[in-house]
Amino acid sequence: MSETVDLVISGGTVVSPDASYPASVAIKNGLIHAVGAPEAMPPSREILDATGLHILPGAIDVHVHFRDPGYPQKEDFASGTAAAAFGGVTTVFDMPNTLPTVGTPEALADKHRIAAGKAYVDYGLYAVLGEDSIQHVGALIDGGIIGFKLYMGNTFGRIPSPSTGAMLEAFEVVAPTGKRISLHAETNSIMERREQRLRAAGRTEAIAHLDARPAVVAIEAVARAAILSEWTGARIHVLHISSAAELRPLAEAKARGVDITGETCPHYLLLSEKDYQKFGGVIRVNPPVRETANQLPLWTALLDGTIDIIATDHAPHAPDEKTRADIWTVDCGFSGVETQMPLMLTEVDRGRATIQDYVRWSAEKPAKIWGLYPRKGTLTVGSDADIAIVDLNREWTIDDAQIQSRSKISPWHGRQATALPIHTIVRGRFVMKHRTLQENARGSGRSVHAIQTMPPAAPRNTATTMAAITAPRAGAVR
Ligand code: NCD
Ligand code: ZN
Repeated sequence: MSETVDLVISGGTVVSPDASYPASVAIKNGLIHAVGAPEAMPPSREILDATGLHILPGAIDVHVHFRDPGYPQKEDFASGTAAAAFGGVTTVFDMPNTLPTVGTPEALADKHRIAAGKAYVDYGLYAVLGEDSIQHVGALIDGGIIGFKLYMGNTFGRIPSPSTGAMLEAFEVVAPTGKRISLHAETNSIMERREQRLRAAGRTEAIAHLDARPAVVAIEAVARAAILSEWTGARIHVLHISSAAELRPLAEAKARGVDITGETCPHYLLLSEKDYQKFGGVIRVNPPVRETANQLPLWTALLDGTIDIIATDHAPHAPDEKTRADIWTVDCGFSGVETQMPLMLTEVDRGRATIQDYVRWSAEKPAKIWGLYPRKGTLTVGSDADIAIVDLNREWTIDDAQIQSRSKISPWHGRQATALPIHTIVRGRFVMKHRTLQENARGSGRSVHAIQTMPPAAPRNTATTMAAITAPRAGAVR
């Protein structure tokens, strides 16, 4: 092992899902070449002194909205992936509610071109699964996607939510492909009706948003999606879990053997109903930030594995789009890809979870759920050298003006943190070094769909699918 490598990170503490231990990391040709004692490291072209710092697998944020193409005032692929780099995030999965919607092979090819030219970190692209895109499932997969996104509830971009009938057919079509379908699990008809009544009653203040979307909106959607997943064998992922009550249909589906996973986001763990007064429209997000009593069960679910991962739903908007007086005219969501790791590691410091839990939620499990493990999500010999090097003793205050995202407005502004990513490395290349963006890394991010290997698909009830019942029969009887 005496051949010269490209980089040795020395003097730090390596964090894996099982342990933290002092070790050096050697990188060659973008891969992890060795992890071990400093004296065992091969000669290197470059040495990074990580004394006092922690070396984590880069976070994989499976839920970001980088708005490109379509909404450059909110974000683009360069500003969004720069924000990821500053947040210790080395892979992102970008959502399809851009303009045009990623629901055709042409729109997908367009976004691939945009992302390849601008990305600082690796990425997967989602395609939308709706009434209009069922016919394109095969072509979208061929065009290179990490998975599908299905909107059970209307949200930014006004992508229509499919009927339950269309959803069943969509699940039938995706099930044999093995791809995972990520769900915005809020039932549209419930919240639309309530919003209409709230508007008619003259309710325009921020908390009216929560009144339009009580937890039953999510409970009903998660339960219904789990039934369709169980019937068809389609793999599903529940995005942005916000309430304690939707944990029950999630846990019950898991117990029945449904291939269902779930994520929550820092805002559901750390913000509550009490913050609406303080933040007004800035806190408006779908699903809504809920009553304080939801926070502890969400933490417990993460710790016991009912919720699998942390993602951010990074949903940037321009300040004027977040500060309108009438809550119904405020765009939903706020940025988060850059602050997730500092916020979560601050909670680790407070004893909420261990740093091992954190790397499991932020890196290892996302990689496993989307078939990227062990290329991504772990600091193991042969894995991609995707690394966040973090100072766990850095007291600082989140300042919206200082973040990379174009959306300089969030409820995290002014919040104290005790952890800060100092360097971020993607496939062996610095994308952020000493808190400085490495401009020459622009366009070096790659789509991860090519390395994705999902376990064999397990479709069910295939004799009753829409395709099966409408196929011409050779005079056969059932
Ligand atoms: C997201 C957006 O702005 O694109 N908004 C949000 O409130 N979460 C859409 C979404 O993820 O539902
Ligand atoms: Zn969503």
